[in-house]
Amino acid sequence: MELIDKNYFNGRVDNEQVLLFTLKNKKGMTCQITNFGARIVSLFVSDKNGVFEDIVLGYDSLKEYVSTDELYFGAAIGRYGNRIANGKFSIEGKEYQLAKNNGNHNLHGGNKGFHNVVWKANQIKNNRLELTYFSKDGEEGFPGNLQVKLMYSVLENNTLEIKYEALTDKVTLVNLTHHSYFNLRGIRHNTTIEKHLLTINASTYTPIDEEGIPTGELLSVSDTPFDFTKQKPIGKDIDSLDTQISFGNGYDHNFVLDKNNLKIAARVEEPISGRTLEVFTDEPGIQFYSFNHIKGMHKGKNNIEFFPKSAFCLETQHFPNSPNQPNFPSVVLQPEQKYTSYCGYKFDVTR
Ligand code: BGC
Repeated sequence: MELIDKNYFNGRVDNEQVLLFTLKNKKGMTCQITNFGARIVSLFVSDKNGVFEDIVLGYDSLKEYVSTDELYFGAAIGRYGNRIANGKFSIEGKEYQLAKNNGNHNLHGGNKGFHNVVWKANQIKNNRLELTYFSKDGEEGFPGNLQVKLMYSVLENNTLEIKYEALTDKVTLVNLTHHSYFNLRGIRHNTTIEKHLLTINASTYTPIDEEGIPTGELLSVSDTPFDFTKQKPIGKDIDSLDTQISFGNGYDHNFVLDKNNLKIAARVEEPISGRTLEVFTDEPGIQFYSFNHIKGMHKGKNNIEFFPKSAFCLETQHFPNSPNQPNFPSVVLQPEQKYTSYCGYKFDVTR
């Protein structure tokens, strides 16, 4: 297990101290996290032969995260994960305008969002890191001072657990998520994710327009490339001529989860390594992104290349553009409420 060198993360951004933290369980599962963007930098998970490999994309220095990333590698995403159409929304009759950082739209909270800011970090135990961030009233265009708490834990059952909490002093929007790019084969093998077998516990999804904004409908997945209700290789329909696939340039869609009570949302199995991932959440949706928007080859940590379809994201969330879709579950947070959200990535191997 070749961990990322902490020295390359020891630095200052916006006059705040940045460091790299290492979380570990007793079985050897290890996760490195920087408080710059609360980003997961590496995640070492055992394969069926007991070999630990890094299964998430990233860079090996703070400098690269600061200077090159629009990919949100491993980041905490907020105040609003995913898109808000035209960067506009209204709350209590007042209109707000956010940055248009994705064509005409707002994506992942804006230019700095929560992914390019320094969080305060407190490593509570060997396997637990608490991160907090105070987002000021008006920051990135959102109303209300928002106090955010994020707890990462590497549990003994090989779950990477992510728990979010937030409190506001004015009515606002909150939709937090996590943006790791996984390749369960191990990133050093330079393979695509097309042979990974995916199941998503969703009989409907939210179709999008050509700019990635949901149309507002919930469509059945049956007889479409979006049917992952039974295990299917990710690559099977990824190049289909389906309009929705062409709008996403592959998969870049929100699935409406059938069960919303911490049941399993999705499962991925990689046949060669035998690694499996189960995603648990209390959120109503999950974005499945097959890493379609980059072109060509790029170099990440340890000079390992990444390229289209070399990893996938499964982002637990409320639906994209919810503030402008009254029929979608609400993302409004009132001052007297506490926002909470749970995401568990549980790893295992096939036997
Ligand atoms: C979005 C993609 C976007 C990507 C950026 C994903 O969460 O759904 O549309 O290109 O983030 O890395």
